[in-house]
Amino acid sequence: MKRNLLLAVAAIFILLQYFPATPAKSNPPTDPARTFAATMKPPEAVHAILRRACFDCHSHETVWPWYADVAPISWAVRNHVMDGRKHLNFSEWLKPGERVFSSWSDLEDVCKAVREKSMPLAGYDWVHGRAKLSNAERQAVCRWTDATIAAAK
Ligand code: HEC
Repeated sequence: MKRNLLLAVAAIFILLQYFPATPAKSNPPTDPARTFAATMKPPEAVHAILRRACFDCHSHETVWPWYADVAPISWAVRNHVMDGRKHLNFSEWLKPGERVFSSWSDLEDVCKAVREKSMPLAGYDWVHGRAKLSNAERQAVCRWTDATIAAAK
């Protein structure tokens, strides 16, 4: 009985693999002139924090984990990345034709997400230990975003 159940679960798991996650995994090409690094010129310390904790879901530099190919987890992983990029994309900080000042509100959002600890997305830093941010690191991000916005006003 127990064996049948196990077999059934295994069969379902194998069947699931025939339902590939959409959209396909991809790291689209990036225009180097429109990245966060090029347009906002963050200090390396801040850039490194964001790269570590945010870029997997908010850039075209996603390091896809092996389970991004294993259904049903793959569906969630791909959705997080595609959805994350749609909301905030460090690889396409400026949309075509957009000017730097229009991205101040994105900077404010970055600070808010980091300060309120709503990001990185819940659960992500359990699996990716390197994405855990200390309070000092969270403050460092906001200190820089606040100063950048203040200097522009
Ligand atoms: C595991 C994937 C993942 C990681 C890592 C991640 N995010 Fe997100 N982020 C998302 C998703 C998905 C959304 C859209 C849905 C939502 O708001 O929860 C989002 C939304 C956001 C938004 C909201 C934008 C808006 O339009 O309101 C901000 C700001 C943001 N993330 C910043 C960050 C920052 C800063 C980091 C790193 C400290 C980070 N995220 C790390 C997946 C992620």
